[in-house]
Amino acid sequence: MSTLIQNGVLLCPGGPVNADLRVVGEKIAEIGLNLPAGDSRVLDASGKLVFPGFIDTHTHFEMNKGKPNETADDWASGTLAALAGGTTTVLDFAEPERGASLASALDAWHSRAEGAACCHYGFHMTVKDWSPAVKAELADMDRAGVSSYKVYFAYDDLRVSDGAALEIVRSVGERGGIVGCHCENGELVGAGIKAQKAAGNLGPWAHPLSRPAAVEAEAVGRWLAVGELAGYPVNIVHLSAARSLEIVRAARARGQKVYVETCPQYLLLDEEKYRLPGFESAKFVLSPPLRGREDVDALWAGLEAGDVDTIGTDHCSFHFRGVKELGREDFSQIPNGIPGVEHRPVLLYTAGVASGRMSAHQLMKLLSEQPARLFGMYPRKGALAVGGDADLVIFDPDHKGRVTAAAQHQAADYTPYEGFETRGRVETVLLSGEMAVEDGRVTAKGRGRFVRRGPSQFWR
Ligand code: URP
Ligand code: ZN
Ligand code: ZN
Repeated sequence: MSTLIQNGVLLCPGGPVNADLRVVGEKIAEIGLNLPAGDSRVLDASGKLVFPGFIDTHTHFEMNKGKPNETADDWASGTLAALAGGTTTVLDFAEPERGASLASALDAWHSRAEGAACCHYGFHMTVKDWSPAVKAELADMDRAGVSSYKVYFAYDDLRVSDGAALEIVRSVGERGGIVGCHCENGELVGAGIKAQKAAGNLGPWAHPLSRPAAVEAEAVGRWLAVGELAGYPVNIVHLSAARSLEIVRAARARGQKVYVETCPQYLLLDEEKYRLPGFESAKFVLSPPLRGREDVDALWAGLEAGDVDTIGTDHCSFHFRGVKELGREDFSQIPNGIPGVEHRPVLLYTAGVASGRMSAHQLMKLLSEQPARLFGMYPRKGALAVGGDADLVIFDPDHKGRVTAAAQHQAADYTPYEGFETRGRVETVLLSGEMAVEDGRVTAKGRGRFVRRGPSQFWR
């Protein structure tokens, strides 16, 4: 089966190109001017942008499985929502049970995703109990196609010591992989929560007060010291604060290799959401919390300056009713996280490209190329290039729409972007060469496959 995409603006690695693109089977077979249709199915992309499928570097599907605070999205609904929004590959966080092997987490995540996933997927591996046995498993992870890891400096049940973090970065780095860190100081967060409760502040608005930017900045500085001493590049996930970005810039100026992920919520929402009436602000309880306007502006400036490498959603969707409400009497019991996997591309197209803050080519780099490079998938994924996987998005830049929970595919009973006006729409998606979204509707389910990843391809 072959498909010819005609007359589109192709977001190729070197820049936008007005050309045709032919897909044969699962691969991009040809890019050129006036390609003959032959017996190919023809898709007219006149006036449209053609992106390599978007990659979400940060999702949590079926997190806390079986517990009262389980996420709303399972692998079927989360990846269906991803696909509807043009995301053709997600990287989700596999997490071992306390004391369990990495292999056990990998098996669990495979069994959840296989057959259910609508888009392609890979796994970052969370390391919480570092030991010689876990270190010995890294070679198995390489063979299994897992090359990226996450450690936490926050959360009592997850966080690792600085010494363990150093060994993890060194051990993963010498294999060519990369470790990302949740940069918040867990001890200081604990103290912050205690202080807020002692002052009688129990509502969701106390959440950001308990973990201000200093708590993130301290952990970013420590994480960069870990990376420097280990001698390998490190990644910072969900960076939210201006002062964290300043610390990153200073480290880069000294020659350190640091990669930065931020998220749509830190670019589009701010701490005003913690002033909503009643318990409504619980919809915006996530960690790190939403920040001030100056942080939002600094992140946009950082994006424009090329300081940010990837934009993942940190999609961690909890229903408001019954789940966020677990923390009605005590903000520290509100499950942390928000939904977003579906709307990331259109929101960033709207706020970034349509508003003139970045080009479509920059957006392609942030949502497709750089995630693929950093996480060992390039150029198979993340590039419109002959020989690459035919995961493609045809995007109508002129469409005007609005985000609503009523119309979303994500399972959560709300969206933090309710009412946001959007420019552009994902019209068509090809997943491994086959139609998966047609005229904005998902037409293929359960066809996602595991992506075996190799070493990181660093560009900094
Ligand atoms: O609030 C958040 N971010 N929840 C998801 C887990 C994490 O820390 O990434
Ligand atoms: Zn995190
Ligand atoms: Zn996360």
